Amino acid sequence: MKTPNMLDAKKRNQNDIKYVKYNKEFDKFGNGKKFFVRTYGCQMNEHDSEKIKGMLKSVDFSEGTSVDDADIVILNTCAIRENAHDKVFGFLGVLKHLKQSKPDLLIGLCGCMAQEEVVVNDILNKYKYVDFVCGTHNLDNMLSIIKNKIDTDKRQIEVLSYEGDVVEGVPVVRDSKYSAWIDIIYGCDKFCTYCIVPYTRGTQRSRKHEDIVEEVKKLVSDGYKEVTLLGQNVNAYGKDLYKDYDLSNLLSDVSDTGIERIRFVTSHPWDFTDKMIDVIASRDNIMPYIHLPLQSGSNKILKLMNRKYTSEEYLKLYNSIREKVADSSVTTDIIVGFPGETEEDFLETLNLVEECKFDGAFTFAYSPRENTPAALMKDAIPEEVKMDRLHRLNEVVNKYSNLRNQKLLGTTVKCLVIGESEKDKNKVCGYTENMKLVNIEGPKSLIGNIVSVKITDTKSFSLDGEYIKE
Ligand code: 5AD
Ligand code: SF4
Repeated sequence: MKTPNMLDAKKRNQNDIKYVKYNKEFDKFGNGKKFFVRTYGCQMNEHDSEKIKGMLKSVDFSEGTSVDDADIVILNTCAIRENAHDKVFGFLGVLKHLKQSKPDLLIGLCGCMAQEEVVVNDILNKYKYVDFVCGTHNLDNMLSIIKNKIDTDKRQIEVLSYEGDVVEGVPVVRDSKYSAWIDIIYGCDKFCTYCIVPYTRGTQRSRKHEDIVEEVKKLVSDGYKEVTLLGQNVNAYGKDLYKDYDLSNLLSDVSDTGIERIRFVTSHPWDFTDKMIDVIASRDNIMPYIHLPLQSGSNKILKLMNRKYTSEEYLKLYNSIREKVADSSVTTDIIVGFPGETEEDFLETLNLVEECKFDGAFTFAYSPRENTPAALMKDAIPEEVKMDRLHRLNEVVNKYSNLRNQKLLGTTVKCLVIGESEKDKNKVCGYTENMKLVNIEGPKSLIGNIVSVKITDTKSFSLDGEYIKE
């Protein structure tokens, strides 16, 4: 048994990071049994789940359609806010009942919550029906953990609080045939004071650029139209590995593969260079969409958050992106109710949002995370004040999403059609180059293609359009 330790998780570079190939050999111990993976949180977790599915299928497990027909259920969890925790513990309650009627059901937990000391202690003491826990640094070892559980019938808790290797070639079963996630950098060294990610995902580790480019080339030959390069802070790509190769070089090299669409998330303003903006602006297959978290418009709060930029610096970068990258859209993340945030600080955030007129924003009420510096800060903001600010902020954010969307009315845009529309099964849906969701009147045969669409109506969170034959 290995359990997590938050103090160890804070340390950096105590281990040399090794670059290794996935070479685990097992007999086909899945025997056709069914698995169900439930994913919480960000795109990196979505992609980790694709690896979990890939590993399980490689030993002859098959994917079930729901928890009810599953022999093994895995919860790939998120720790970013308390409500993410609550959802997981709520679902574990449902699984407890299921296990009473199906005692052979295996239940496993992985992802960011598995890296938290408090969570693993709770699992050990209160959730005894959870059969295995696997951390983020040893995800590639999940099959051994499951096999040990099956062979010994003993609970397996295997969580490392130091970085694992960068493992290439983990089997992956992608959810989409057209658009693929690609990890480029793991972990985060920024230590924003509110954030648990540097503890749950460890130190910044870039993948080698040749491995990334190889992966993209293979996807191109498999018919993929789009890749999204993933990292907690993609703009730090390469800093831990190379002297003179950064995200701008990687974007150029990925662009040269000829893949039709390249996206990347998430950006940190601190590491965003002019060179990166120039590459984005100059390459047709790098999409003009940037997610650029602001977090707060108050310099006092930004400092307390350890964001390492001022609102003026953010605005300068923001304007430079808008000026250089044609028809770009920019979205952001904002936290309200950080400890010590006064009404004046909040108004500064509102002012900056008024000035930037973002295409969209993910807005959050601050949620204290155990062992992070902000959790110890004084002047906590009452819940009702946080909710009031969130509500006021969302009104302004929605006003500008609407206005930005309205500008597209009547224009013809390119969309990658990804599937049936969730709103109307007779329509399909897809994304514009600048990442607007469009519900499209057009045949199902468009799915998987990049097509022209005329925008016929706009809403806050989506657009309506009709397919234009060329
Ligand atoms: N409370 C509220 N929001 C948070 N985020 C990260 N940590 C917290 C927290 N403790 C938000 C940030 C980040 C996004 C992924 O989640 O805005 O950009
Ligand atoms: Fe968290 Fe800040 Fe790292 Fe983003 S950059 S993952 S908010 S610590």
